[in-house]
Amino acid sequence: MYLTKDEQAILDGEQGAGAQKAMELVTALGKIYGADSLVDITSAHLSGASYKTIGEGGLKYLSDMVAGGAMVAVPSTLNPVGMDRTRWKEMHISPEFAEKQLQIIELYGKMSIKKTCSCTPYIGDNVPSLGDHVAWAESSALSFVNSYIGARTNREGGPGALAAAILGKTANYGLHLDENRKPTAVIDVEDMGGSVFDYSLLGQAVGMKMGKGVPYFRGIDPSVEDAKTLSAAMAAAGSVALWHAEGSTPEAGNFDISGLEHITIGKKERQEAYDKLNTVEDVQLIALGCPHLTPKEMHDIASLLKGKQKRNKDVEIWFCTSESVREQCAEDVAIMEQFGPVLADTCMVVAPIEGTFQRTATNSAKAGNYLPTLCSQKVKFAELSDLLKVIE
Ligand code: F3S
Repeated sequence: MYLTKDEQAILDGEQGAGAQKAMELVTALGKIYGADSLVDITSAHLSGASYKTIGEGGLKYLSDMVAGGAMVAVPSTLNPVGMDRTRWKEMHISPEFAEKQLQIIELYGKMSIKKTCSCTPYIGDNVPSLGDHVAWAESSALSFVNSYIGARTNREGGPGALAAAILGKTANYGLHLDENRKPTAVIDVEDMGGSVFDYSLLGQAVGMKMGKGVPYFRGIDPSVEDAKTLSAAMAAAGSVALWHAEGSTPEAGNFDISGLEHITIGKKERQEAYDKLNTVEDVQLIALGCPHLTPKEMHDIASLLKGKQKRNKDVEIWFCTSESVREQCAEDVAIMEQFGPVLADTCMVVAPIEGTFQRTATNSAKAGNYLPTLCSQKVKFAELSDLLKVIE
């Protein structure tokens, strides 16, 4: 792989141990995936921010990077952490966990990474443009920016995205290249509804059918909320990192789709997706906001709850969003808080909920996939309005 003189100097340690470690990682990935060079990036989004997921090993890795003088070179945001920074007691989090979590956030901050922690930074805190090369981790967010915005990123892991952020560069392979952004199958969508739950079912069904590849949708015109839900579902049920929607996403018109395999997703396929995820009826926690709630979703939920009361005291409800969206939506938050906490910069999957709950409800296919595997939960998978009826 070709390196410029400056890049080689970083690899030789001339800019400190942190930058050297970052260059070692990025060039190693480039060699594995056949990159010919590095490419400049305009932003990064980092996963691996929850103490639950990175543990002591991750904490040590971050401490070493900070001690080695590592500092990010491009605007960089963080994925959700294991708790709301100030309201962690409402999440049944222990003081020991809270202390470690706050240390992790501080370490990222020392590398000049923005301490907003959301899986939807593209709503306002970190917004790439069409054609930008970026290095994003968080499977739902990177699929959203690839597909709905037309930025270019591979499915980065936490350490790879951090290394790229430090260098302001990543290895030029995979979805950074035109030839890998072509659709690999046409998805003909039939009888589609328009809710988060409908897009979760669609994404789950496509992820189950395709696994990986680049789906090209016909028959949908997704909003931001639909696109984030669809991206999350396909990334969790399969490993889709880029999709196109005819007449809707910015790169869809660039490709000739004749000769591609066609897959139909209708009621039957969505029922199969539902059957895979729904494993329990009676729940202890309803967790909404996977990916994090947008201002529109906050408003929609508040409208459904307005004038009602929480009658079912046996079931908790959490609303997960970013700190910036929580701040923007004060009126909606006041209504929602009568039912349960509006939690910022955390979520039901990266928080250690398994110490408190065993049965959780969601309208998100991504949460439906990860709650059993990462949080030992049985899952009720249902439409938002049906979930809210459980607590009324
Ligand atoms: Fe975001 Fe957590 Fe879902 S990070 S995409 S809310 S699992």
